[in-house]
Amino acid sequence: MSVLQVRDLRRSFGGLLATADVSFDVAEHSLTALIGPNGAGKTTLFNLITNLFAPDAGSVTFEGTSLIGLSPSAIARLGVIRTFQTARVFPGMTVLENAMAGHHRLLRHGLVSQLAWWPRQRAEERRLADRAMALLDLVGLADQADQPATQLPMGAQKLLEVIRALLAQPKLLLLDEPAAGLNDTETAELAALLRAIQACGVTVMVVEHNMSLVMTIADQVIVLEAGRLIASGSPAQVQSNPRVIAAYLGEEVA
Ligand SMILES: Nc1ncnc2c1ncn2[C@@H]1O[C@H](COP(=O)(O)OP(=O)(O)OP(=O)(O)O)[C@@H](O)[C@H]1O
Ligand SMILES: [Mg+2]
Repeated sequence: MSVLQVRDLRRSFGGLLATADVSFDVAEHSLTALIGPNGAGKTTLFNLITNLFAPDAGSVTFEGTSLIGLSPSAIARLGVIRTFQTARVFPGMTVLENAMAGHHRLLRHGLVSQLAWWPRQRAEERRLADRAMALLDLVGLADQADQPATQLPMGAQKLLEVIRALLAQPKLLLLDEPAAGLNDTETAELAALLRAIQACGVTVMVVEHNMSLVMTIADQVIVLEAGRLIASGSPAQVQSNPRVIAAYLGEEVA
């Protein structure tokens, strides 16, 4: 069953067509990798889905609800949560507080947020902290839980951002180059985290340049080039597609 339907999505910046009539579906519980050369329109696609920018034309439907015209925070409350290509951790907060902020952001407008003194709410906070610690442990950051998040190396900040997004209880998680700037150990930790995310039943779209990672984790691969969707299918189908090989000329596809 498809949870996300993107149809004929289009967006220009000045004379540049950054997203050119892109259509695709994302199946529930699947992991879709979004690949394509620099400037292909991968981040723009996430920006259009989460309505940081409004599309010029086309539709985005999540679980039967049109996302067109909804605010980014309303879209987040529906369960569509994204990370940014450049890690954004909250300064002045510890690693653990940063992780838990993903969940708090969703509660901010609700009555629940005003009831922090309520025993049931305190128990909920403890459960959230336990979940955050378990995830930090999975990526080797549990030891640094009480350190200021800005003191983490860049790779660790990117992993922290993925954890924060996960604690926001996404139904659909959009990850923009989570592996960029990660060393080999951190990339292996990210792969473990992505597998854990999949096991939780979260649907994932991930922009990723690391082809061996894409080929091992993705159910579906979507290839963009100059704003256009030039191929989609299983990793094996996409890997042998001549247009994809041409778009990646000089780069490793296998
Ligand atoms: N806000 C904006 N204003 C003007 N041009 C933009 C804007 N956002 C994106 N673009 C342009 O749209 C095109 C697609 O950019 P986008 O960031 O989506 O590419 P990308 O596939 O994510 O690239 P990268 O791999 O470098 O992250 C680029 O030519 C970019 O310069
Ligand atoms: Mg990008």
